[in-house]
Amino acid sequence: MDVLVGLQYGDEGKGKVTDLLSEKYDMVARYQGGNNAGHTLYHNGKKLVLNQIPSGIIHEHTINVLGSGMVVNLFHLMNEIENVKSILPNSEKRIFLSENAHIITPLHLLEDYLQGSIIGTTLKGIGPCYRDKVYRKGIRVKDIFSDDFDIKLVEIEKKLRGNIDQISNKSLFTEHLNNFKLSIDYAKNNLNIVESDFVRKFDGKILAEGAQGTMLDIEHGSYPFVTSSTTLSSGSLIGLSMPPKSIDRVYGVFKSYLTRVGNGDMITELNDNVGKYIQGKGAEFGATTGRPRRCGWLNLDELKESVELNGVTDLIMTKTDILSGIKTLKILFKNEYHEFKGWETTEVDDNSSNFKDINLINYVDFIESKLGIRINYVSISPERNGIIIR
Ligand code: IMP
Repeated sequence: MDVLVGLQYGDEGKGKVTDLLSEKYDMVARYQGGNNAGHTLYHNGKKLVLNQIPSGIIHEHTINVLGSGMVVNLFHLMNEIENVKSILPNSEKRIFLSENAHIITPLHLLEDYLQGSIIGTTLKGIGPCYRDKVYRKGIRVKDIFSDDFDIKLVEIEKKLRGNIDQISNKSLFTEHLNNFKLSIDYAKNNLNIVESDFVRKFDGKILAEGAQGTMLDIEHGSYPFVTSSTTLSSGSLIGLSMPPKSIDRVYGVFKSYLTRVGNGDMITELNDNVGKYIQGKGAEFGATTGRPRRCGWLNLDELKESVELNGVTDLIMTKTDILSGIKTLKILFKNEYHEFKGWETTEVDDNSSNFKDINLINYVDFIESKLGIRINYVSISPERNGIIIR
């Protein structure tokens, strides 16, 4: 099994990379998070927004698994599947959901709605759902088939109605409740629900797809401004029921600069015109929430830690084209800023993977030398083929 992880605060452009890499795999599996993640892919010019379904869905030969480490919003999944089906007929047959994954209820959504703004969460109920999991009172996918599930449903409705007075947007939560009920029926009748060892028993090449990023990891990230799951490559073992020795390669994805959504420290943040320029050119607005992302210089101290924590074997730098045309660039390393002349072009020499612009070569060399690892892939445009393999 290989793993693909984000090395910063999420939004490193993992979607494009998985889309590209997943062609080589028989299975792509998500091991944590839920519909707080999101990316957009294009298939024959048609837009495909994925939040919970792994990116392997785009390739007809790939099986896609939502692993037991995930927290799943079933209504959202139903819509995602219907959308994917309309673009890729029969693709629903290649989507499998672990019976041990936890489900996000309208109560989780309500709680996040009431409290989430402190951290700046995506308000998708992720934290409350993981909290209930750890507190041993969560609802797992397999529970929807149990005889007492209807009693649980009544309890949820009662609690929701008891709390709904606190909020102005009551109709929203009535809608959430109706959608939840609808999605339970859908899940029972339409989803391929599998045992939690499904991935371990699979005979083929597996890519574990991480969501969010290393700095948002519950354990090693910038706590408490983090998400509620283990985003690290090691999380794939638990979230997909795999033994420790099963990881081969770890693809670590980072952006040539830094972005962050939500609250928490960001020492290289740019609150000036350069930050605004990067935000605009890089379309740095949340794929899930639409919130503007804070932009700043690359923080190599954090990146080095991420590389070590994840055991990265292959580095991938994305959105290199966004920095083109900026006169002076900076990288933070050992708490000091290092200045670099900006590049004009991300083109490579004909028939080689060598960049034409010496300033880009210097930037890449500096990162590689400080991290002690080669950058094997450099993404230079949003297009699928806009990636240089070095
Ligand atoms: P939650 O995951 O919705 O609980 O949010 C916790 C923190 O993680 C907030 O700062 C979010 O903005 C951030 N976050 C969650 N998912 C993503 C993501 O996919 N990309 C970037 N940030 C994320």
